[in-house]
Amino acid sequence: MPTLLFINACVRGRDSRTLQLAEQLLESIREENKKDMAFHIEEIRLSTENLLPLNYERLQRRDELLANGIFSDTMFDYANAVAQADMLVIAAPYWDMSFPSTLKIFFEAASVVGITFAYAEDGTPIGLCQAQDMYYVTTSGGYIGDCNFGFEYVHALCKLYGIEHSHFVSAQGLDLEGADVATIMEQATIEDFI
Ligand SMILES: Cc1cc2nc3c(=O)[nH]c(=O)nc-3n(C[C@H](O)[C@H](O)[C@H](O)COP(=O)(O)O)c2cc1C
Repeated sequence: MPTLLFINACVRGRDSRTLQLAEQLLESIREENKKDMAFHIEEIRLSTENLLPLNYERLQRRDELLANGIFSDTMFDYANAVAQADMLVIAAPYWDMSFPSTLKIFFEAASVVGITFAYAEDGTPIGLCQAQDMYYVTTSGGYIGDCNFGFEYVHALCKLYGIEHSHFVSAQGLDLEGADVATIMEQATIEDFI
């Protein structure tokens, strides 16, 4: 059964509107694929993970493992999960023009040469991930406009990983005075990027 990896970077637990939107998306993906290709959904909830940014010691350990071809170490669990997934869904609230820092740490751990991407002899990157689609779900207090740095970063990384199609799902303006939150949530939009 194909695996959908759900990377949940929502911080406010059940109060999170981003999580609510992501759950709606997961439900519609489930419905769409019910007949031919039911997904097994695997969630990584970043708020309960022990996420550590790379420091000098961990960087050296990582380099040593890679130099010895040890790709199965637990240090590479996130990279292996991303590489082996058949679809990615990422839920992250719009924070400070991007996303919560846990998601950056997650991608730091997931971006591993030899697992999620590699380089050809001429230096051209080669994506090693199986998935073709990544859905990035967010909600924001105001309007994101030209400052969609979180999605753009993840979209660029996914390209590096070989994941060709990115989809941006959002409900915006939720914290503006007088906002009709229920209606904005119902009218959430999806934009497709190649
Ligand atoms: C730490 C923090 C930073 C935020 N930064 C922004 C921002 O830069 N721009 C914006 O429009 N809203 C910002 N917001 C508002 C959130 O984007 C908005 O409330 C969103 O719906 C929260 O998602 P959630 O309900 O899933 O937690 C911020 C909220 C928090 C808590």
